[in-house]
Amino acid sequence: MMTIWNKLSAQAEAVRNRPLLELFEIEARAGSFSAEAGGLLFDYSKTNIDAETRDLLIALAEERGVAARREAMFTGAKINETEGRAVLHTALRNLDGSVLVDGADVMPAVRETHARMVAFAHDLRAGRFTGQGGAITDVVNIGIGGSDLGPAMAVLALAPYHDGPRCHFVSNVDGAHIHDILAGLNPATTLVIVASKTFTTIETMTNAETARRWMATKVSDPAAQFAALSTAGDKTAAFGIDPSRVFGFEDWVGGRYSMWGPIGLSLMLAVGPETFDRMLAGAAAMDRHFRTAPFAQNLPVLLALVGIWHNQFCGYATRAVLPYEQRLARLPAYLQQLEMESNGKRVSMDGADLSYHSGPVVWGEPGTNGQHAFYQLIHQGTRVIPCEFMVGAEGHEPDLAHQHLLLVANCLAQSEALMRGRSLDEAREIMRAKGLEGAELERQARHRVFPGSRPSTTLLYPKLTPETFGAIVALYEHRVFVEGVILGINSFDQWGVELGKELALALAPVLDGSSDGAGKDGSTLRLAARFRAAQGG
Ligand code: F6P
Repeated sequence: MMTIWNKLSAQAEAVRNRPLLELFEIEARAGSFSAEAGGLLFDYSKTNIDAETRDLLIALAEERGVAARREAMFTGAKINETEGRAVLHTALRNLDGSVLVDGADVMPAVRETHARMVAFAHDLRAGRFTGQGGAITDVVNIGIGGSDLGPAMAVLALAPYHDGPRCHFVSNVDGAHIHDILAGLNPATTLVIVASKTFTTIETMTNAETARRWMATKVSDPAAQFAALSTAGDKTAAFGIDPSRVFGFEDWVGGRYSMWGPIGLSLMLAVGPETFDRMLAGAAAMDRHFRTAPFAQNLPVLLALVGIWHNQFCGYATRAVLPYEQRLARLPAYLQQLEMESNGKRVSMDGADLSYHSGPVVWGEPGTNGQHAFYQLIHQGTRVIPCEFMVGAEGHEPDLAHQHLLLVANCLAQSEALMRGRSLDEAREIMRAKGLEGAELERQARHRVFPGSRPSTTLLYPKLTPETFGAIVALYEHRVFVEGVILGINSFDQWGVELGKELALALAPVLDGSSDGAGKDGSTLRLAARFRAAQGG
């Protein structure tokens, strides 16, 4: 008997060349291939998923145990099996709940830390917590990966709600990054937040030392203007940060899932605790939807099934995330970590080699900018790239509503163009109308053909409010989770980042000349020698 996986493979082969527009002729497609939750409308009708395919995909999710695994996650089971940890970022946004890990309720500590963050944010925003030079005007968050991408994305996304200090983000160990950020700031009115789950990450700790030296040029007690966000209380103390400004969390919060708790402190300072909590509420609402809605109406499940269909069955290796929302400019970078660090694995949970591809390459840019850059390839290149459009029905600038209308028109036009395409006959007509004929008409027409039937989905939301933003991020978190469960991998470890870190540590002495690099390959040694020569060494 054929497995569900094999049936889906056969289905993908059978529908490979079916024109998408034909699907709309057969059935009332737009309504039945979309789903809604919390005001978010997810339209996946412009894909070649038909009713039979959807049934098979849902059967696959059921067969792979998505429901049981989902419940295990929400209830604190140690589903991160390679690190022996629970996965409970959802607990950070469901503050009324109670969740047991190793028999103990984790929520009292979560609530206490949240309350301390709120008190600190009120104090700082009201000018009760000050720097040596007076009220804090600027906050510098030093962190990388999950300790940077989430808050950096969120501060930009919620800019219309920003009424606190200016926020800056330093992540790269490249000294240019911290240099350029600090150059415009006054140490006496700046708060530095060292955001690091482990408090060992070399980039963050190096930048934190640099910031402390910078602070000391003007401030007699620099540590008094530092805060720390970490699971490692011993290390924050060793750095000299007073425990009253250390906001801790537990190892069951993965770095890339951590913006909902202490790692979100910069956002809370920027927009205030009330707005921050609205974001949590939006995410919590998406959690409830994910946990309770039937698969056929469940947004994270559907998003995951579309992803699995395109990547594992249709063989499309990448997906583009295209927010028509300038304030979501950092969402693609955030999703690159969320999706690729989570699902870029090569063995299943039990250590066996995967017999299929793991997660896709995720990339993107906001529209309409991308249209004038890489959309050419999406429309006419030889590879198919599923596109995930998203756009708000309303902008935050009522006096610029005419621009918003143009933005939405562009977003919808792109998905329509990808699906509709332009045939050779239509292209010939256009060339004929321009007065061309014969071989030149034919040649020019061929350049103007769009193959069409290129899949896309659209997420339409009312307006980028804190609730909506929280819901969108939670939607993607759960999508990644469902894809990981279907693929049978552990979405919550990241061993693939370790080797490069170890080798970088070992290479530093080769670069400064204190090691001859015995055992290193010729390419690496030659590049290192050229570096040393450039340093005059
Ligand atoms: O190197 C990868 C990583 O561990 C990410 O998973 C994490 O978000 C990032 O580094 C930063 O880690 P930390 O918060 O411990 O500094």
